[in-house]
Amino acid sequence: MALPLPFLNKGRRRSQMISVDLGSRTTKAVLLERRGEVLALTRYALLDAPASEKRISPEQLAEHLRAVADALGNPTKYVTLAVGLNDALVRQIELPQIPLAEMRRILKMNHKNYLQQDLPNHVFDCHIIPPRLNKNADATKSSGVPKLKVLAAATKQQFANDFIQAATNAGLVADCLVPGLIGPINTFEQALPEVFEKETVALVDIGFKHTSVCVLNQGELALNRMVNVGGDTLTAGLAETLGISHAEAEGIKVGMSSEVEAALQMYVTPLGREIRASLDFFEHQQDRPVSQVYVSGGSARSEMILQMLHSELLLECKTWNPTGFLQLALPGQQAVEVEHIGPQLTVAVGAALAAF
Ligand SMILES: Nc1ncnc2c1ncn2[C@@H]1O[C@H](COP(=O)(O)OP(=O)(O)OP(=O)(O)O)[C@@H](O)[C@H]1O
Ligand SMILES: [Mg+2]
Repeated sequence: MALPLPFLNKGRRRSQMISVDLGSRTTKAVLLERRGEVLALTRYALLDAPASEKRISPEQLAEHLRAVADALGNPTKYVTLAVGLNDALVRQIELPQIPLAEMRRILKMNHKNYLQQDLPNHVFDCHIIPPRLNKNADATKSSGVPKLKVLAAATKQQFANDFIQAATNAGLVADCLVPGLIGPINTFEQALPEVFEKETVALVDIGFKHTSVCVLNQGELALNRMVNVGGDTLTAGLAETLGISHAEAEGIKVGMSSEVEAALQMYVTPLGREIRASLDFFEHQQDRPVSQVYVSGGSARSEMILQMLHSELLLECKTWNPTGFLQLALPGQQAVEVEHIGPQLTVAVGAALAAF
């Protein structure tokens, strides 16, 4: 069975959905519930990711999904999984005006041409980016038949099968697999619809060992890159420079002690440079400036890190609220803490949106 990779709010209506962002360090899960016209966030959970240097086995994943469902109070059996950056490929491509099923078939046959990679034993999915009237008119003028802009994604068939099996073993039902990269984009579209539609911005998600950079140009994914620096790179750097343990360095970093500012800066600077290089690439290619950088992921909880990125990129780098457009119906302490934890929930919320 080929599990579809639905993006960007392609609806299959569930009234409740558990969405799991299996991070390398921390698993983030949210429970979203449809309440008439609005979506409510009724619970979230942060759990340590299964400690594993290797790929996590279907048995480990089943156990972990069970723990996630328990932490959320076992409200529903439907579960959506955000696929990590290393497990799903996402590209914007152009395809002729053909039905979606045909697009998937073409990708399966011709992925080398369209995605510039040999991807044997993969499943593919597509999302058609709604054409804008004016842009479409231009395309018609030049070529006669306008092509469609399409987001294409691929993941290994085995990975999809393992997820289905793990969910079943956990007493759950695998509903959607969503490329993690799409998470922040989906969430951003709902959280800041005006900016999404009209502006050219970068979405940066700083993870554990990696950072993803997406440039959104008036709602289209113009560029996506992965940088091999994340929150853990900063912690490891601090530990080495200050000659302290990893755990101490983590505590100091999260505590935002100003005494370590200079040491932290040394490791944030290369991250800033890599992000800048991605933005430069886009700006030179498209002759259009990126106006703002919106940062998510655990490290976006640190004002100091955002400030450092700002001075490196010479662009405002800000965190944003991925739950602002949801009705908040969280129990006690969670209602208080969601404001701080928010940036870390961006991918899980966005993956859930693909499933409603
Ligand atoms: N308040 C904070 N200040 C600075 N860094 C923080 C803070 N809170 C969490 N982090 C960092 O965030 C990182 C974890 O972020 P996140 O949960 O987004 O990663 P992940 O999703 O597990 O990783 P990936 O996306 O690469 O798989 C850790 O390195 C942690 O040190
Ligand atoms: Mg992550």
